[in-house]
Amino acid sequence: MKKIKKAVFPVAGLGSRFLPATKAQPKEMLPIVDKPLIQYAVEEAVAAGITEMIFITGRNKRAIEDHFDKAYELEVELEAAGKMQLLEFVQNVIPKHINCIYIRQSAPLGLGHAVLCARPVVGEEPFAVMLADDFMDTAPGQPPVLAQMTEIFSREGTSILAVQDVLRAETGQYGIVSATPYQPNLERVNAIVEKPAPENAPSTLAVVGRYVLSNKIFDYLENLGKGAGGEIQLTDGIAALMQAEPVLAYRYSGQRYDCGSKLGYLKATLAMGLKHPETGKAFSDYLKSMK
Ligand code: UTP
Repeated sequence: MKKIKKAVFPVAGLGSRFLPATKAQPKEMLPIVDKPLIQYAVEEAVAAGITEMIFITGRNKRAIEDHFDKAYELEVELEAAGKMQLLEFVQNVIPKHINCIYIRQSAPLGLGHAVLCARPVVGEEPFAVMLADDFMDTAPGQPPVLAQMTEIFSREGTSILAVQDVLRAETGQYGIVSATPYQPNLERVNAIVEKPAPENAPSTLAVVGRYVLSNKIFDYLENLGKGAGGEIQLTDGIAALMQAEPVLAYRYSGQRYDCGSKLGYLKATLAMGLKHPETGKAFSDYLKSMK
C-alpha cells in the first residue's frame, strides 16, 4: 500500500470573513497564542509521516514562504543578544528533512481549482489536503487527526474525508455527505453536496478540512465547471470520484475550531492559551478573576 508522503495546503483564499486582518496576509498566518495556524497544520502533517509540503498560494504569499524559510538577520540578532531559546524556536519551525514547495494559484477560482494546481507536483500518488484554518486539537496521547486518517488509509487504500456532525442550520457552510455505516467511526459515502440549504441537506454530516485523496481526483477536477458560489468546488470533484471508487467518511477523534470565523478563532485561542506552558496558569487565574 502506498504511503501518503505529500500534503497540499490551499492558502490562496481571500479570507474575507477576517478582513481587515487578512488584507495583506493569508488567514493561515493568524497566530493561535504564538504559532500561526499554518505551522500547526504542517506539524500535524509531519506527525502523519508526510515529507513534502505543497502550498497553493495567492497574491499574499510572502508571509508563508518567509515563515518556513531561514531568517538570517533575525537569527544573527537573536544569537548576538544571547536569546538562545528564541533562536531555537526560529530555527526549528520545520524539521530539516521536510521539503516545502510553493505553487501560485493565479486567481481564487475555488478550493477544487487550488487542489488541481498541485497536480504537477503530486504526480501519480495519493495525497492529503489540509485546510489550516480548521484547527484540530487532540487529547494527550491521541494521534493528531491526519495521522488517524493516514493510518486508516494504510488499511483501506481509498479516499477518506474527515467529517463531523453539525447543526442543521449550519449545513449551508459545508460539504454535506450522506453515508452508510462501514466500520466504527467510518462510513461509506453515497452522496456529497456543497453547501446545501438546511431543508435540502441529505444529512448533517459535514466535511471538515482534512482529506486523503486518490490521485484520480485530478482527472475529475480538470473537467469540472463552476459549482456553488461560482467556484470550482473540491466537493464536486469528490462527487465524480465517488462514481468510480469508494470514498470513506471518517468521524475523527479531536476538537475542531473553525478559525476562518472570528468566534472559532477566539475559542481556539482560549483553549490553547489555557494549555500553553507559558501562559496556561496565569491565563486561567485571570479568567477565574473575571466577572
Ligand atoms: P474558504 O471557503 O474558507 O474561503 O476556503 P476563504 O476565501 O479562505 O475565506 P472566506 O470565506 O472568504 O472568509 C477554504 C480553503 O480553501 C482555500 C482557502 O485558503 C481555505 O484554506 N482556497 C479557497 C484557495 O486556496 N483557493 C481558492 O480559490 C479558494
